[in-house]
Amino acid sequence: MSAESSGFDFICRIVAERTGNVLEADKAYLAKSRLLPVAQRWSCPSVKEVIAKLQASRDPQLEREVVEAMLTHETSFFRDEQYFANLSQHILPALLHQRQAERCLRIWCCACASGQEAYSIGMLLRESFSDAVSGWDVEILGSDCSYQSILQAVAGEYSEVEMTRGLSARRRDRYFQRQRSGWQLNDSLRAAVQFRELNLIKPLPTLPPMDLVLLRNALIYMSDDTKRTILRRVHQTIRPGGFLILGATETLFDLKDRFDRISFDSSLSYQKRPL
Ligand SMILES: C[S@@+](CC[C@H](N)C(=O)[O-])C[C@H]1O[C@@H](n2cnc3c(N)ncnc32)[C@H](O)[C@@H]1O
Repeated sequence: MSAESSGFDFICRIVAERTGNVLEADKAYLAKSRLLPVAQRWSCPSVKEVIAKLQASRDPQLEREVVEAMLTHETSFFRDEQYFANLSQHILPALLHQRQAERCLRIWCCACASGQEAYSIGMLLRESFSDAVSGWDVEILGSDCSYQSILQAVAGEYSEVEMTRGLSARRRDRYFQRQRSGWQLNDSLRAAVQFRELNLIKPLPTLPPMDLVLLRNALIYMSDDTKRTILRRVHQTIRPGGFLILGATETLFDLKDRFDRISFDSSLSYQKRPL
């Protein structure tokens, strides 16, 4: 797809307006493969026609599908293993210690795609901390601006390929049941994680003070101004002493003095300083 003739500029504009994601011009080729399924669902003979249809009608449902198709939803269970090892060995034990009087723990995966990150934390809590948090009020929230991703996360349904990414056979057998095509997470773990649609470029709804926020691999697609705005909002949700985990290449910008940088082996986390 050529950037000039295809309406790629139009797609870039609506994706930026709706989600803050910046699509680089050299990603025009992605539009064709990502929008083909949308064209098929809307009975359009080509991607060019689906774009023309959207330009003409601004149909909200079509716009949503086009925008969601253009975002990168790449994720996997226990993505970046070292981060999960550090959650298990350092961050969760520190939080359990901090929160032992209140016996309450709030965890938010705030661009969770199809849910694997949030469910991976649920698995860790079951495997290593079930005695420690017995009787605690534990909430894991997963959110994303993509309705389709949240639907998949709520259903807990994953394809064979998704199941081979980051999930051991032992965990697969413990938490999933096979379906006609793919696998579904068991009811018990699904019930342990709440999901909601939430767009980080809009003012946040009221959320409880968070002990741990994961904001990984979403800011990389945004402008520096948008990153700063989102980081400020997310910072407000974290309790003093709570932790923020960013993706490996992401930084805190001007919020550096509000957090202590905690380095465990090759992974980085940030602990919010007391006010
Ligand atoms: C690459 S995935 C990362 C998923 C997961 N955090 C991980 O690291 O495996 C990025 C996710 O960010 C979501 N996203 C992009 N812009 C967003 C926004 N403005 N608000 C909320 N989620 C957003 C996308 O829909 C996508 O599912």
